[in-house]
Amino acid sequence: MNSNKSNLLVPGKVINYTLSSTGVFGTTENCAFKLSVYNETTIRIQVSLQNEFFPNPYSVISTPEEVKFFWQEKKEYCILKTKKIELLIEKNNFRLIFKNTKGTILSEDASHFGINWQGTAVGCYKKLQQWEKFIGLGEKTGGLNRYGQTYTNWNTDHFGYATNADPLYLSLPFYIGLHHNNCYGIFFDNSHKSTFNFGAGNNRFSYFTAEGGDLDYYFIHEKNVGGIISAYTSLTGKTPMPPKWTLGYQQCRYSYYPDKEVIRLAQTFREKEIPADTIYLDIHHMEECKVFTFDKKRFKAPTELIKYLKELGFKVVVILDPGIKVDKEYLPYREGNEKQLFLKYPDGENYEGQVWPGWCAFPDFTKPETRVWWAEKLIFYLNAGVDGFWTDMNEPATWGQTMPDLVQFFYEGQEANHKKSRNVYGLQMARSTKEGLTNFHKGKRPFVLTRSGFAGIQRYAAVWTGDNVASDDHMLAGVRLVNSLGLGGVSFAGYDIGGFVGNTNPKLFARWIALGTFCPLFRAHTMINSNSSEPWAFGEEVEAIASNYIRLRYKLMPLIYTAFYLSSESGIPISKSLSIDYTFDDKVYHGAFENQYLFCDNLLVAPVESYKEITKIYFPEGTWYHLFSGEKLGGSQELLWECPIEYLPIFVKAGAILPMQSAKNFTEDFNDGQLNLHIYQGMGKSEQLIYEDDGKSTAYLDLLFSKILIQMDFSANKLSIEKITANYESEYHTANFFFHGMQFHEASLDGKMIEISYKNVAFLDEISEYDPLPDTDHTFKVCQNVPSFSISLEGNHRRSIQLN
Ligand code: GLC
Repeated sequence: MNSNKSNLLVPGKVINYTLSSTGVFGTTENCAFKLSVYNETTIRIQVSLQNEFFPNPYSVISTPEEVKFFWQEKKEYCILKTKKIELLIEKNNFRLIFKNTKGTILSEDASHFGINWQGTAVGCYKKLQQWEKFIGLGEKTGGLNRYGQTYTNWNTDHFGYATNADPLYLSLPFYIGLHHNNCYGIFFDNSHKSTFNFGAGNNRFSYFTAEGGDLDYYFIHEKNVGGIISAYTSLTGKTPMPPKWTLGYQQCRYSYYPDKEVIRLAQTFREKEIPADTIYLDIHHMEECKVFTFDKKRFKAPTELIKYLKELGFKVVVILDPGIKVDKEYLPYREGNEKQLFLKYPDGENYEGQVWPGWCAFPDFTKPETRVWWAEKLIFYLNAGVDGFWTDMNEPATWGQTMPDLVQFFYEGQEANHKKSRNVYGLQMARSTKEGLTNFHKGKRPFVLTRSGFAGIQRYAAVWTGDNVASDDHMLAGVRLVNSLGLGGVSFAGYDIGGFVGNTNPKLFARWIALGTFCPLFRAHTMINSNSSEPWAFGEEVEAIASNYIRLRYKLMPLIYTAFYLSSESGIPISKSLSIDYTFDDKVYHGAFENQYLFCDNLLVAPVESYKEITKIYFPEGTWYHLFSGEKLGGSQELLWECPIEYLPIFVKAGAILPMQSAKNFTEDFNDGQLNLHIYQGMGKSEQLIYEDDGKSTAYLDLLFSKILIQMDFSANKLSIEKITANYESEYHTANFFFHGMQFHEASLDGKMIEISYKNVAFLDEISEYDPLPDTDHTFKVCQNVPSFSISLEGNHRRSIQLN
């Protein structure tokens, strides 16, 4: 029986199959199926009610590696085995059971309806495993552990969303299941509206369904979460190296205008010596919100303006909205019409929806010709000196929040309706924008920041979490959103510091900017009619705190830039949920600790509300050092910790080597050549890479980079520093070592004694008391008497240092 009274259709018995070099394909009573072995770690499952498959052409960029796999047919089932996964296929009902090589079940389909259709909706029901946890799914609100929750993937413009709202702007149908010390990943590669249920309202299943299309998913098994993220990003791409200026502080508002105000903003940063790299121009830069225009009154001479900002060391990013104003006098509208580049109704008329400019037509980014046209249009901005683009409203957003489902998209020739195409629209807009930068900003690294996207978005753009609200809850929710995006391969992500909707209060801004220092994308933004949100807009105290943290961000740049390099190779995020490194430690999922994360692997960040002065922190296994005071703390314990507004709780993992530099006004500002290396007593051996390149061009792809490797052997008290790749001239000529939690009396470099001095190290500057009658005194934390010495880095030879 393959269909029952409730009109549930199931695959039925396996009828025949054929083996190929990459897997097996065949038919059941009701379906066609294909199992493809991508590599030892990843198996793709495709099941279709038709004789062919309709894959999403946009997300996966890899093909099966043709690894050897084992296949065996038994009476009741077939077995497909790689070195890491054993897949049992029950012949009677095409039920799939995934095991690890020890025979432990990782994931198993429900018995009678594991795979099923109700009308066009396809679903895959998996038995809930005991104590199973679920993490990931990208930009989703809620807790770190998604057990008991259900989520929808349907890209939505959600202004001022609640911290439990769903769906938001971007869909990433990839999650990781955890149970019995095992983990697996499932990427459901179907662009239709989909639902993921992790045991919400039922006690039997976790399941995913989509309103149409094939069952097309990738099952990934690796021994740890990091391995699964790496495997997932081998399928959908890694976050490439961003231009270095995008890692500095970015200032945005809706909107800075006219030109004089932009100039004043830039000058204020420089006058106050608050570092910053990027200024955004929001929709007021345009004439009547028409993309590819500058408002002639507000911005009389955009090229000169941008040239001047560049002289001050700023880069300029402009907003791009997809809606093209319906206006026969407006060239982009005429061109799009003539060339048939817009979304259409089935009768051939353009779809029109209302956005900022009024009634608009929408470029069909799922059509190659449209992407080429859009990319060429960007030349308008590039000629004016613009450095990067901010693709917004690309869900796509329209007033009324609805696009009729029969609107037609080209979808690379598959011709699809809105239901199938909506979720990839933002992804394709970001792609086209990146292609424009790559083609017409020759040799420069592209930067695109997007609101909407789908699996694979990390290849094209950084992501921000849209229109958040100025509240403590939102600040913490943003951390979880960014970490969840990271679990889905989006390493370059951030939130609007200060909150987009509403007015931030001074303490909240101070805490938020401190937190943003430890966020991959470091951007403050706020909406029209809200109070100013620049670092100096909240009075002297907040300005001092903000400026302190922004400077710390620039000091940490060698660490952060290297982390981006490592992430571009591994896919593992820069802002790491503790579930990545401490997967089976139940405490990290606890509501009180789920916001904690590791930044650049070794910094434990404990986000805390702005109004709290004391907070409970969980220290995972190992030993930790308080960044600001050097205090040593044992792991596997909860501690109450004071968190005055000027000190966000940050801890360093024992054994870490933190590479830092002097503060700068902007990333390309003069570098004094001092590399500050903070080493924290650990056990065994540890190492840290410092990756450098020119930070802006694509020359690094031709291996024009330099790598310095620092190795510390704590048991032998030996330290070495070596340039392992020197195709780019390092900016550092002197290494200053600082040893935290370590005691030694002598140090020798290649056999010669070096002088040790004892220094007080402060990572943040002291806040002066502006107010003669302050409400609270500011604390000033210093790591005291830190043994330190300096060595020259001239020449490329390896240096060995012995500590005694
Ligand atoms: C949207 C964006 C926001 C932007 C505004 C005006 O709300 O999310 O960041 O400032 O549009 O362009």
